[in-house]
Amino acid sequence: MYPEILIINGSPRKNKNCFKITNEVNSALIENAISCKIFNIYDMDIEYCTACGFCDKTGYCRIKDDMTPMYEMFNKAKGVIVISPVHFDCISAKVKTVVDRTQAIYASKYILNKSSIDRDKKRIGMYIAVGGSTPYPSQFMGGQTVMDFFFKSVNNKLMYNLHLNNTDKETYEENTEFRNKLQNNLDSYIKDIKELD
Ligand SMILES: Cc1cc2nc3c(=O)[nH]c(=O)nc-3n(C[C@H](O)[C@H](O)[C@H](O)COP(=O)(O)O)c2cc1C
Repeated sequence: MYPEILIINGSPRKNKNCFKITNEVNSALIENAISCKIFNIYDMDIEYCTACGFCDKTGYCRIKDDMTPMYEMFNKAKGVIVISPVHFDCISAKVKTVVDRTQAIYASKYILNKSSIDRDKKRIGMYIAVGGSTPYPSQFMGGQTVMDFFFKSVNNKLMYNLHLNNTDKETYEENTEFRNKLQNNLDSYIKDIKELD
């Protein structure tokens, strides 16, 4: 059985903000009988894309590692939720590594015209970005640009975007306003996912 929702935790820090949010998301889905799987990608063996061009010719990735089973999971899923720290106004390096490896899906669609992902299946995406600083204009811009592209690559409609800032001063757990916002967004997300059936 493939999980309905893939939850990608992009932080290397255990038990900090992204981990706590990941667990919150996981619990909400389980309470609503939606199957899901957490990917703590910093604990996984996922190589960098080497731009070898293999996927341009075949539609799949030459590298065999922990990313390999994820391709079919992306295909079978009803949605993908990515939780990433802001690192230098972007997603974390390991999230970028996962994103780059989806080039194999991109190539199957746009280079080979032989999609490895069902493009007619409806999937819903959620992206949660977590920054340590108080707000400033470019804080979420780099990450947002990359993730908009990523969700297109894995054929998810990115309907939910949440930005949390100031975690260096106020943790996710202390931030009641954001916690409420997350709960409300999760309620709507779960409703949307159930309506996909
Ligand atoms: C390498 C690195 C770069 C960072 N760059 C930024 C940044 O550009 N903007 C920002 O608001 N916070 C930045 N931070 C702070 C993190 O976004 C913040 O600590 C956040 O809470 C990380 O998520 P986590 O607590 O789940 O690990 C950076 C942290 C690190 C380690």
